[in-house]
Amino acid sequence: MQRPKTKILVDGGDPEETRQVKNLLGFVDGQTTNPSLIAKNPHIKQLIASGHKLSKSEEMTDYKQIVQAISPLVGSAGVSIEVYADQSTKAEEMLTQGREMYAWIPNAYIKYPCTAEGLRAAQISVKESIRVNMTLCFSQQQAAAVYAATKGTKQPVYVSPFVGRLDDIGQNGMDLVKNVKRMFSTGDGHVLVLAASIRSLEHLLYCFVLETELATVPAKVLETWAAGGFAMAAWRGTEASTPGTSLTS
Ligand code: E4P
Repeated sequence: MQRPKTKILVDGGDPEETRQVKNLLGFVDGQTTNPSLIAKNPHIKQLIASGHKLSKSEEMTDYKQIVQAISPLVGSAGVSIEVYADQSTKAEEMLTQGREMYAWIPNAYIKYPCTAEGLRAAQISVKESIRVNMTLCFSQQQAAAVYAATKGTKQPVYVSPFVGRLDDIGQNGMDLVKNVKRMFSTGDGHVLVLAASIRSLEHLLYCFVLETELATVPAKVLETWAAGGFAMAAWRGTEASTPGTSLTS
């Protein structure tokens, strides 16, 4: 298989699934996790189905065990671990979680949301040499804010445009990936684009065309990619058109 320039991360919360994808592809560059994906882990699902209500500390212990099992399976793109946060969570609270989670594994990236408080947490984190992945990015303005907040970092920062969720609300998620990449093309390169919320093979192949630095992809989409012989895409659409029907393998 011709390995894409785009680093491939598994978007999931189950080490067994990561192992299977690695067997299928021959490599896995990294992994992203989030609390909803962890809740879908077979062991956690079983606990919940048996009527067990996980305490906050049990949730953290289980999350830690899962990422510790995934950590050695992946390559240089590391494992992203997401802090528990909502609209009202303050940067200090995110930082407390982020510092703890960062110590779980040697290849961690801490996921903070692209909110004002998340950006403040990221600004402090990069000064403490904590690698960050800025998640829930829905606009170029948010990506620009990530760039500004993390300037001077010694380690790469990820920003995650949410492709599928933008598509869901009638926008073109891949356009955001393309525009953010274009915006960063004249920058210092400290922020890498990680296409997230990928839902289809078309999304993935368009990431290859754009040479997006990283893409996090559900196992199902990677299985479809493998079943099609690892197509690298010949995207023949115009600049303005939506990827989808013009792909050939
Ligand atoms: C990855 O970092 C994101 O959490 C994930 O891609 C979100 O995907 P979803 O929109 O399918 O929840």
